[in-house]
Amino acid sequence: MEYNIDLKNFTTFGVSANAKKFATFSTEEEARNLTKNNNEALLILGGGSNVLLTQDFNGLVLKNEIKGISIIEKNNVTVVLKVGAGEEWHNFVLHTIENGYFGIENMSLIPGSVGASPMQNIGAYGVEIKDVFEKLEALEIETGEIHTFTKEACAFGYRESVFKHALKGKFIITHVYFHLSLVEKISTKYGAIEQELLKNGISNPTSKDVSNAVIAIRSSKLPNPKDLGNAGSFFKNPVVPIKLYNKIRETFSNVPSYPIDENSVKVPAGWLIESAGWKGKKIGACGVHVNQALVLVNYGGATGNDILNLSTEIIENVYQKFGIVLEREVNIL
Ligand code: FAD
Ligand code: EPU
Repeated sequence: MEYNIDLKNFTTFGVSANAKKFATFSTEEEARNLTKNNNEALLILGGGSNVLLTQDFNGLVLKNEIKGISIIEKNNVTVVLKVGAGEEWHNFVLHTIENGYFGIENMSLIPGSVGASPMQNIGAYGVEIKDVFEKLEALEIETGEIHTFTKEACAFGYRESVFKHALKGKFIITHVYFHLSLVEKISTKYGAIEQELLKNGISNPTSKDVSNAVIAIRSSKLPNPKDLGNAGSFFKNPVVPIKLYNKIRETFSNVPSYPIDENSVKVPAGWLIESAGWKGKKIGACGVHVNQALVLVNYGGATGNDILNLSTEIIENVYQKFGIVLEREVNIL
């Protein structure tokens, strides 16, 4: 156990905040022992790539370092893998590609841990973890018991799961099981993947090619947290009633949208924020990224509250301009 440590290097926003107590765990047993007699506030951290610390944490911060990737089942078409929650997501993706398992190559280069991936049902380039999710194991903090959650029990949605709502703060995810395909399955339809492959003269891509294309596209838009503090998309893309969308289109004929159902569409928050004039804006030590308006960045020295206040200004301004309320994706602490 460590005391009074600065969490600056434990989140990708790189903001300073003091943790009263800090420890890591690499087994379920260690997690159980650390939480058993704890009567203070508890924060579980993976890679810290989806949290914004706006104040000191007056309690116990536990960093998950449970490792290991093992094969649970394998037949001619599918493999089921059990993965320690403390494995790095991108390393896991690379492991699957090297072993000829298909299904998550489009989610290359998402920062953070495997254990946090179900929290918001991470997704990119047309794939979400719910598409390959088998089940997970989690330690119930109150009882110390391990529970198994099926896909249905996780209630996955767009950047959503039961762990962000009804079960918030009640479980520590220790292992996640994924089912992946042994039969080649490549999906290049989403976003700029096909263009990127064509640019490199690739017409019959392998999963490694797709992964490389996704990495190239992401690197061209999203800042690397090692260079510039950020937590990826700060807001979710809002789902908007068709009526409101049509009204916006009367004034902004170029507003993009993706179909959801007959009554609603998804509108890219990046477009709304850019159209409201925020892209590239710098306010003090934080700002809106120059290449991706959905990403708020810490240029160095910003506090969590500077970034939170900027996000509030953006929400208010986008609402005034378009009548759409943006919802934060990042977990605010
Ligand atoms: P943390 O930030 O450490 O934690 C996130 C939340 O989960 C916190 O509330 C924490 O308490 C909780 N938590 C973490 N681990 C556990 C556990 N084992 N048990 C219980 N609770 C836990 N996300 C996407 O979906 N798609 C993207 O394309 C994407 N791109 C990104 C790009 C960049 C540059 C960055 C910085 C972030 C991006 N993100 C993206 C967001 C982020 O990578 C994901 O949300 C990731 O899953 C967070 O993992 P983490 O380990 O860093 O979680
Ligand atoms: N756009 C703009 N200006 C911008 C940014 C985006 O106009 O500055 C518009 C464009 O119309 C563009 C569209 O938004 O075509 C979509 O942009 P992009 O492809 O960059 O994706 P996104 O909607 O901004 C989402 C996810 C990302 C994920 C990518 C790829 C959310 C909140 N974000 O971003 O996830 O990597 O798609 O699938 O759904 C994250 O969750 O942290 C994250 C990075």
